[in-house]
Amino acid sequence: MINNQSKIFVAGHKGMLGSSIIRILKKKGYKKLITIDKKKLDLRNQTSVKKFFKSKKIDAVIIAAAKVGGIKANIKYPANFISDNLQIQTNLITTSYSCKVKKLILFGSSCIYPKHYNRPIKENQIMTGVLEETNESYAIAKITGIKMIEAFNKQYNTDYICLMPCNLFGPNDNYDTQNSHFLPALVKKIYLASKKKGKKKIVKLWGTGKPLREVLHVDEVANACEFFLRKKTKKSLINIGSSIEMSIKNYADLVKKKIDPEILIKFNNDKKLDGVMRKKLNLDLANSYKWKSKMNFSKALDEIIMDFKNSYR
Ligand SMILES: NC(=O)c1ccc[n+]([C@@H]2O[C@H](COP(=O)([O-])OP(=O)(O)OC[C@H]3O[C@@H](n4cnc5c(N)ncnc54)[C@H](OP(=O)(O)O)[C@@H]3O)[C@@H](O)[C@H]2O)c1
Repeated sequence: MINNQSKIFVAGHKGMLGSSIIRILKKKGYKKLITIDKKKLDLRNQTSVKKFFKSKKIDAVIIAAAKVGGIKANIKYPANFISDNLQIQTNLITTSYSCKVKKLILFGSSCIYPKHYNRPIKENQIMTGVLEETNESYAIAKITGIKMIEAFNKQYNTDYICLMPCNLFGPNDNYDTQNSHFLPALVKKIYLASKKKGKKKIVKLWGTGKPLREVLHVDEVANACEFFLRKKTKKSLINIGSSIEMSIKNYADLVKKKIDPEILIKFNNDKKLDGVMRKKLNLDLANSYKWKSKMNFSKALDEIIMDFKNSYR
């Protein structure tokens, strides 16, 4: 059983989710957190990963390291998305097994479920339909990780799980206007438009604004990670979401209201940049284990807008 004296390796500790996991675990009294910079250990290198694990005697591994990006990055770098993610996961899962790690948590993403579905999607609907072509490489790598975990649990009786979050936002998010996810991109584009001089402040956004997105503050996922670190579950794939779902246009209107209500929002109506139309998760399984998000979205949005404004000065 994992407790706050266990040695926990958080891979990807400088990323948005990894840094949140470190914050939450420290707050909850975990004393033996292990991290290493990417410059010192490239997780794609199997030999180095094995050497690192052998020197540390790790009890639990949290895989928050991944090649991650928004829709344009996924379209432009499919080779990196499939090969980096396959290598990172495979090295960490196989080495965890050979080094007798007791618990492993991988992260999937709601965008790797089949493209066409209208109702909130359940965990058992993975691989039941075609994937969204813009992020197929990323999805195939992540699905392989999920299936690897299932296979290891079946054959070796390991306790490995994959948490499947919806769209995340929070401190340390990526605000690059070409490579980021939709919510940080909205905050940045609308904030920059608000700073323009002159009367007409127009912001141009990608796509039609119609796709629906469910969002969750990253600290909620870190809390779920700590919760499931201590729990033995029968199922190895668990959706993690907030039930807060709106169209991208509605999110844009909300961000605009908070930053500058005078701004005019225009979508470029390029359907290729819409991605999946809906990604809402069914949360019955997580709820059955007594996990539920406690996020106050409006407050969380105020905080990230404030964070962004402070860091952009
Ligand atoms: N962000 C979201 O909206 C979202 C939604 C659902 C699920 N998730 C999942 O959550 C996990 C973490 O995502 P995130 O948003 O926190 O991503 P992130 O901010 O980009 O963090 C990923 C971290 O992994 C590190 N990394 C990448 N390649 C590495 C390598 N070869 N060796 C060592 N470290 C490496 C990165 O380092 P560098 O920055 O130096 O490359 C970075 O610190 C991913 O599995 C993702 O699929 C994210």
